[in-house]
Amino acid sequence: MEEQIKKLKEDFYSDFKEKITVTKLEELRIKYLGKKSLLSQLFSQLPNLDKEKKAIFGRKLNALKLEFTTFIEQKSKEIVTEEEKIDLTFPSFYPKRGTKHILSLVSQNICRIFQDLGFVIVEGKEIEDERHNFTALNIPLEHPSRDAFDTFYLDIKPTRDGGNFLLRSHTSPSQIRVMETIKPPLAVISPGRVYRPDKVDASHSFMFFQIEGFVVDRNINFSHLKGVLLYFAKKFFSEDVALRFRPHFFPFTEPSAEVDISCFLCKNQKFSNQKCGVCKGKGWLEILGCGMIHPKVLENCKIDSKKFRGFAFGMGVDRIAMLKFGIGDIRLFYENDLKFLEQF
Ligand code: DAH
Repeated sequence: MEEQIKKLKEDFYSDFKEKITVTKLEELRIKYLGKKSLLSQLFSQLPNLDKEKKAIFGRKLNALKLEFTTFIEQKSKEIVTEEEKIDLTFPSFYPKRGTKHILSLVSQNICRIFQDLGFVIVEGKEIEDERHNFTALNIPLEHPSRDAFDTFYLDIKPTRDGGNFLLRSHTSPSQIRVMETIKPPLAVISPGRVYRPDKVDASHSFMFFQIEGFVVDRNINFSHLKGVLLYFAKKFFSEDVALRFRPHFFPFTEPSAEVDISCFLCKNQKFSNQKCGVCKGKGWLEILGCGMIHPKVLENCKIDSKKFRGFAFGMGVDRIAMLKFGIGDIRLFYENDLKFLEQF
C-alpha cells in the first residue's frame, strides 16, 4: 500500500506537468478523485488490513485525498482567470451608449430649419423677472397669467426695476432680452424650458419646452411671417402641408393668430370608418401662436416702432413632438423610461 500511495502521488504531479485546460482538469479530477479512481480503490482495500495498518493508511489516504482536492481547486481558479484573460472568442458586452432625448432632437431639428433661413440661436434665462416675462411684453398687471396660479414666483428679494423674480412661463421674454441689447435687423430663434404650475396630466406638465422666433427689420410684414412659417411646416412635417391662420389675441402681438397645419397623417381624407388618431377627424392641428410684434413692445426695448416692424411666433416643443410621433401622453417625456426613450 505504501508503494501504491507513493506511485499515485508521483503520477498525479507528473500529469499536472503539462499545460492544463478546463476539460483536461476535469478529466484529471475524475482520474484521481472519481469513484473509479485508484484512490477510491485504495480506500476500499482498507477494511482488509489489520487494525494498526488500517489506522495508518486511513490517515495517509485521507491526507492524500485532501492534498489532491486542494491542488485541483487551486488549479481550477488559476485556469479560469487565465482563460478569462486570453479567450478572444468570448462574446463581449458593449456598454450601452446614451442618445439625445427626443425633446432635444425635436428642438434641435426645429432650430436647424430656422438657422438655415439665417436665424441665430439665442438662449434666454430660465429665471426671469416680471418686467421681462410680462410688463415689457405688454401684458397688463391684471392679466390672469400673472397670477400665482399660473406663474411660479421665486422667494428672492425683488428688484426695483424688474419686480419679482419668477421661473419664466414662456420663451417670449427672450424677445425683450435680445431687443434691449442688440438693435435690428434681427432674426432670432430661442429654445428653452418654461414653467407653469399646472396639474400634471396627459397634456400638461409643470415644466415643458418652447421655441420662440422673431424677426425685426424695416419693412417686415405679415406675409414674411406666413412665408417663414410655411417653409418651416413643409420642412418639419411634410412638403404638402397647408397652413391656416386663425385670428387670436396675444398682448405682445397685433394682429395675432393661431396657426394650424393640415393633418400630415390623414391629409384630410376622411378614413372610412374611424377618425384619424392624430387630428381626431378635424383635419387641422394647432401648432403655434404668432403675430406682428406690438409697437409698444418695440418701444419698451427702445426700438423706434415708426421705423421698425417685426413678427414673432412661439411653439410648444412637447406638443409638436407629440403630434409628429403620435405620442398620447406628455408625461412619457419626463419619466425616463428607457423602453420609451430608446425608440428615438
Ligand atoms: N408666449 C405664447 C405662449 O406661451 C406663445 C406666443 C404666441 C409667442 C404668440 C409669440 C407669439 O411670440 O407671437 O402661449
